[in-house]
Amino acid sequence: MTGTRLVGDSGLVTGAGTMIEMRPGIPWVGGIDQGAWRRAWRRAGTVPPSASLDPMGLAALRAALAGHVRRSRAMCCTPDQIMVTRGVAGSLRLLAAALLRPGDRVAMEDPGYPAARAVFAAHGARIAACRADEHGLVVSELPGDVRLVYTTPAHQYPLGGRLPVPRRQALIAWARATGALIVEDDYDSEFRYDVAPLPALFGLDPDVVVHLGTTTKTLTPALGVGWLVARPDLTGQIAAAAASLGERTSEMAQHAFLALLGCGDLGRHVRRMRREYGRRRAVIVAALSSAAGPARLLGDTAGLHVVLELPGGTADQMAAAALDQGVAVMTLERYFAGQASRYGLVLGYGGATLGQVSRACGVLRALLPASRGPEPPGTASRRPEPPTAGTVGAGRAGGGAAAGGSARAGIAGGGAGAGIAGGGAGAVGSAGAGIAGAGTKAGRTRGRGR
Ligand SMILES: Cc1ncc(COP(=O)(O)O)c(C=O)c1O
Repeated sequence: MTGTRLVGDSGLVTGAGTMIEMRPGIPWVGGIDQGAWRRAWRRAGTVPPSASLDPMGLAALRAALAGHVRRSRAMCCTPDQIMVTRGVAGSLRLLAAALLRPGDRVAMEDPGYPAARAVFAAHGARIAACRADEHGLVVSELPGDVRLVYTTPAHQYPLGGRLPVPRRQALIAWARATGALIVEDDYDSEFRYDVAPLPALFGLDPDVVVHLGTTTKTLTPALGVGWLVARPDLTGQIAAAAASLGERTSEMAQHAFLALLGCGDLGRHVRRMRREYGRRRAVIVAALSSAAGPARLLGDTAGLHVVLELPGGTADQMAAAALDQGVAVMTLERYFAGQASRYGLVLGYGGATLGQVSRACGVLRALLPASRGPEPPGTASRRPEPPTAGTVGAGRAGGGAAAGGSARAGIAGGGAGAGIAGGGAGAVGSAGAGIAGAGTKAGRTRGRGR
């Protein structure tokens, strides 16, 4: 496929049509009820604009958010602990401006969120990369002399772990003992599947945690509204930094968000999206969790993305081959601060329809490296074929049709196949190209700044 180009955040366009967008960090904006969206902005348009803004944000929105985090995250706080921001990145910029001095150490999950790392680095912080595993931040390995630790406990970004309660408690105890502040990025906690909620770190100890929320995943990054919740003295300090920097959040956007929150439209949207994302996630799990051999699916119980962990040296080629077949994914490698220690693909399911997710899974299954590792020279004819339903990876090259068929069987067998009939057809037709010879395009998928 030639002539591939990026078109903003919404997807890729190629000469042959639109790519299936499976990169992480993209919500399903097509699921927003247009009537509710218009009503919210009409309501915002009826409020006369202010001549000057409270850096903390609209009082009515902060009161509504206090109720929202109590209901959705069991967090107890007053409106004067809440500051409205432009989102997680906006909150991090203000936190860094208010609390960091050049040279301060900031502990970050590794692999972790590149934008958060960039914000802290831009403020002169020394980044201490701390290992995250499939459960989240490895708290026992945190260093002592740290001003802040940034973490994503509800769904570790990108590996997808939900930080277990004992690690949460250990993290709070560590912060108490060292005097560090915990920055809790709660970017997609609204979405979890068949698992009970875990307590927000802020709820465990509001004195040592700054909690960050955003509308980027629940609604759209286009709104540009988020919030931070902290001790009142810290919130005041951060608001003072915002005022001195002239940083503000659009008042119109705050009114529109307040309207969505206040009339229940946001809650309805989140419930609808939970079901929609749940269906897409079920398709991925059914198609890829049975991945025999070296491939392993991680982080599938929450959020809007999963990780397909792969043996070193295969992810770049697989991403490039998937791109050639019309599926855009991200490699895990780019989320590491330095040398990667785990490899794989990060697969977002916010930006693709159920049918597209199904087709993408068919393509990916067919591209999986052989499940038994590299074959000794001269033994190719001993490979069993066609691959059986429920197993993946055997049909690397030249086995596209069989692999595509296997993918569909896997999806149907997982109980998630309703409404995705024909979803595997694209994969069947194109999966045979295999991994080899597609290395040059990996940079294109890797290079996105999410
Ligand atoms: C880990 C993480 N945090 C936060 C966000 C959203 O940030 P913001 O509110 O700045 O748009 C994202 C979006 O992809 C993310 O992946």
